[in-house]
Amino acid sequence: MASTKISGTGSSAPEKVMTNFDFEKIVETSDEWIRTRTGIAQRHIAEEDVATSDMAYEASKKAVEAAGIDPMDLGGIILATVTPDHFFPATACLIQSRLGAKNAFGYDLSAGCSGFVYGVQMGQGLIETGAAEHILVIGAETMSRIMDFEDRATCVLFGDGAGAAVLSRSEIPGIMSLYLGANGDDWELLHMPGGGSRMPPTEESLRQRQHYIKMKGNDVFKEAVKTMESSSIKVLMKAGLKPDDIDLFIPHQANRRIMEAVRKRLGIPTEKVFVNVDRYGNTSSASVPIALDEAVRGGRVNDGDLVLFSVFGAGFTWAAGLVRF
Ligand code: UT7
Repeated sequence: MASTKISGTGSSAPEKVMTNFDFEKIVETSDEWIRTRTGIAQRHIAEEDVATSDMAYEASKKAVEAAGIDPMDLGGIILATVTPDHFFPATACLIQSRLGAKNAFGYDLSAGCSGFVYGVQMGQGLIETGAAEHILVIGAETMSRIMDFEDRATCVLFGDGAGAAVLSRSEIPGIMSLYLGANGDDWELLHMPGGGSRMPPTEESLRQRQHYIKMKGNDVFKEAVKTMESSSIKVLMKAGLKPDDIDLFIPHQANRRIMEAVRKRLGIPTEKVFVNVDRYGNTSSASVPIALDEAVRGGRVNDGDLVLFSVFGAGFTWAAGLVRF
């Protein structure tokens, strides 16, 4: 049976940065509150003429280059996002066109912050059943388009960016195990009410600010800690490994306190945890692939290293992955 490895990574974020001090001028908040409650110091915000496909394309180009393949070698493109350029067509198709990846199919995947790891599971399945040799999986978001800049409880948390990885067929296993889960019972704790078929855009829905993220942060926090711990344990058990075996832990970059709580519960030392939430905020489905790319390019991931991912997001959805590099 063929295996699948991550053969290249890439990431991209808009140049423009908004610091906590910039938010102090917009809403009743402080740099101190944001730092102590979340660990965030700044986030990247897309310029008006930049959309999700633009950042995704830049990240994808780098990932394809790093994998040492031609875009024509890609058999498929899976884009995880909750902020596509348009409702349809799939933003993955726009990226396929810009890359010139003529042999690739493309579709978008909506699984909140867990989307990238969901995409890795789909890509692995396609590769190991022989449908493709290389699959590009991207997580990309323009969260600033759905952030309510009048709601201090959410607007300070998110940021824009994109991360991508090329999955390739391989002799030796790279992806050791994956675990996905969902529970739609609590969907309203983190959602955007307007814009879809339940509540199409109207003047009234716009006036009521229904086209922005709504989140019960505290409830999401508790679920995130519990579930990121349990899914990490599940994915380790599946591979017959222990937290001690991990070289690097890449948790979802939503909140420093969530990462710290999960780290402690798993008994992983601080120096093995990758953190960039201070510079990006929560970029939803782009969070894990941006962190992975920074870890790879920054020399935090070396040949033979075992990397653990764990994510939690809207849906609720969650996902964990264990990958050997
Ligand atoms: O991507 C996956 C999903 N997202 C997450 O994982 C996010 C999960 N949640 C969180 O990260 C945290 O719950 C938050 C950072 C959102 C909030 O931290 P918290 O410690 O749970 O605070 P809280 O919601 O309990 O709010 C505490 C207080 C409230 O005031 P009162 O009611 O105690 O007077 C809020 O109104 O902090 C207030 N507050 C703020 N104060 C200053 C909320 N947002 C702000 C703000 N600046 N930006």
